[in-house]
Amino acid sequence: MTDSPTSPAVDLSLYPDGTSLDAAGRLLVGGCAVADVAEKYGTPAYLVDEGALRRTARSYTDAFASRHPDSLVLFASKSFPSASVIGVVSEEGCGVDAAAAGELAMALAAGADPARIVFHGNAKTDDDLLSALTAAVRYVVVDNLDDVERIARLAQEPVPVLLRVSPSLDAKTHTAMMTGHDASKFGIPSDQVADVIRRIRRESMLDLRGLHAHVGSQLLDLDQFEAAVRAVAAFERFGVYDLGGGLGVRYTSADAAPSVEDYADRLVTAVHRHLGADVELMVEPGRSMVARNGITAYRVVTVKRGVRTHVAVDGGMGDNLEVSLYGQAFQPSVVDRSGPAEIVDLVGRHCESGDELAHGVEVVSPRVGDLVTVPVTGAYCYTMSNNYNAALRPPVVFCRDGESRLAVRRETFEDLVRRECLLPGAD
Ligand code: LLP
Repeated sequence: MTDSPTSPAVDLSLYPDGTSLDAAGRLLVGGCAVADVAEKYGTPAYLVDEGALRRTARSYTDAFASRHPDSLVLFASKSFPSASVIGVVSEEGCGVDAAAAGELAMALAAGADPARIVFHGNAKTDDDLLSALTAAVRYVVVDNLDDVERIARLAQEPVPVLLRVSPSLDAKTHTAMMTGHDASKFGIPSDQVADVIRRIRRESMLDLRGLHAHVGSQLLDLDQFEAAVRAVAAFERFGVYDLGGGLGVRYTSADAAPSVEDYADRLVTAVHRHLGADVELMVEPGRSMVARNGITAYRVVTVKRGVRTHVAVDGGMGDNLEVSLYGQAFQPSVVDRSGPAEIVDLVGRHCESGDELAHGVEVVSPRVGDLVTVPVTGAYCYTMSNNYNAALRPPVVFCRDGESRLAVRRETFEDLVRRECLLPGAD
């Protein structure tokens, strides 16, 4: 059963900046012992290091403002659509990319300034557009000709819009995360862009200010961002460019990812070279803003040793779909104690075999009740949390300077049952 006599070390470089071990070897995130947080709020739980999140948001706004003063960093709220998270990054100078009316409602609830919100969507309904027009967001991003028709019909006054164009690039990432290729459902194919620009200009209620492009997510090669800028420069020139998000992050010790500084450097240099130094520039980071600033804490429920060692925890694909949807590799640890190492499959509690959190990973030989942490779960895990097996979606706990605060409470069975309209006694 034991594969190695030495305890595998927790790679703190995957955890929020500032994560440490105390004298007893306990893991501290935002100065809080993860064990104490797990005890207080239960597991599974998403922990966010609020201080580290603030520093990432500030480093993003500084990195762009110092290179291009007329810039705005929009947090892609789809990556962590909680008003608490949006509120924190807004306080640090970020605007918000809202890709649906619900994300817009979250941003407004967080107190985000509508003049710093950009509204997206490849299938915006009348209601979606009305919510954006009522809020008076900075720009609505036109994704198709029906957006043009709808805005023209619904608007009472000219609406500042950007046009989402396809840069015709095959991003080097998972196919589900490619968004700027010719076959994409997003944006206007490059050969139709000139026609759509003419069409928009015929509408007095649409005020076309610029272009938007987003090539994909979890991009680790900065050349792709420069290629996108070059592709966008081939269209008619405008005064405003929103170049989307996409910067990739490290999920395991073996990964390498560019820094926010390197990304800002390459992108702004490319913008100045190909689009000009006098444009309004926006970017929409999601994953790289939040991924490393969040971890998930679980408890081991059972260990089954056979052909493989299955360590089942109290969460799984209900709180982390990254593994089953994209095959994303994570690097979990059994924390707060030492012991011999063992190679295990970390699995969830949901009723399917694809419900795995990590495959063939080395951890301290696990026992029932052990605390397990999975780092780099700050992006898209809370987003895609779900009720598979009527599981309750976990809470979000902010940790900062040794204090923990509940940001989003755990769902309850009452929450689930309350939506059932046919039960006796339901209103
Ligand atoms: N802007 C637009 C228009 C986008 O479509 C996206 C992501 C972003 C910005 C933010 O990209 P980021 O910086 O986070 O890479 N569900 C997938 C991620 C899909 C991302 C979709 N669009 C996942 O769980 O990994």
